[in-house]
Amino acid sequence: MNLKEHVLSKPLPKHIAIIMDGNGRWAKQKGMLRAFGHENGTKSVKTAVETCAALGVENLTLYAFSTENWNRPKLEVQTLMKLLVSSLKKEIKTLQKNNIKLAAIGNLNSLPAKVYKELHEVIDQTKQNTRLTLTLALSYGSREEILNTVKEISIKVKNNIISPEIIDESIINEHLYTRNLPDVDLLIRTSGEQRISNFLLWQIAYAELYFSDVLWPDFTKEHLYNAIIEYQKRERRFGKTSEQL
Ligand code: IPE
Ligand code: IPE
Ligand code: MG
Repeated sequence: MNLKEHVLSKPLPKHIAIIMDGNGRWAKQKGMLRAFGHENGTKSVKTAVETCAALGVENLTLYAFSTENWNRPKLEVQTLMKLLVSSLKKEIKTLQKNNIKLAAIGNLNSLPAKVYKELHEVIDQTKQNTRLTLTLALSYGSREEILNTVKEISIKVKNNIISPEIIDESIINEHLYTRNLPDVDLLIRTSGEQRISNFLLWQIAYAELYFSDVLWPDFTKEHLYNAIIEYQKRERRFGKTSEQL
């Protein structure tokens, strides 16, 4: 069995989320500017998306830009935003060809007008697609998302649209940016860092965590297969005993 067949021989995660980290260090190792790392990171994005679509993974969520990333040097932020617009323009065909729906989570209003416009165009053009939902986390921070949720629910309570007694996990889920997505099954972070960096705190409550030392621009299809194979070996007990499963 090759790696792909191996992956396909067991149940797949329904939702994979990736913290794509290490672009800057990858470029530095090569004596290049950080922007070069980000450019090469887009190739790994394409690979990850196409691999998930080919396998039949239904949801892939990529951490592309955090609320904290606004604090980076202005020039780097500009580079990342430009890269986003050019990638969206370039990849729309691949998304259509592979029946992939684009979605976005985060404080999208804070994005530059050009990014916002291009993003919504692609979201609109791919909204009928069904094979894979590709969600980009842009200007995304999990605490901000939860804060928004609390505010929205509070307003509904104040206006007597819902009563406080009925607030449960599903109502919270429905107010998160990720309202249309299932919980994360597998969370991958590249580059050797072992932290969450304000990503999907609520949604990863029972995700399997997988940390890879590989820097994001070097993350290949085979690396992704191996992450899924590792996931498939784990026993997800959700609090129960092994015998109960
Ligand atoms: C991830 O790579 C991309 C973004 C956060 C936008 P980094 O830019 O964080 O790369 P390192 O961590 O500095 O190597
Ligand atoms: C997390 O990476 C954000 C993204 C991958 C977009 P960072 O490189 O910004 O995270 P920290 O600063 O190492 O926690
Ligand atoms: Mg980083």
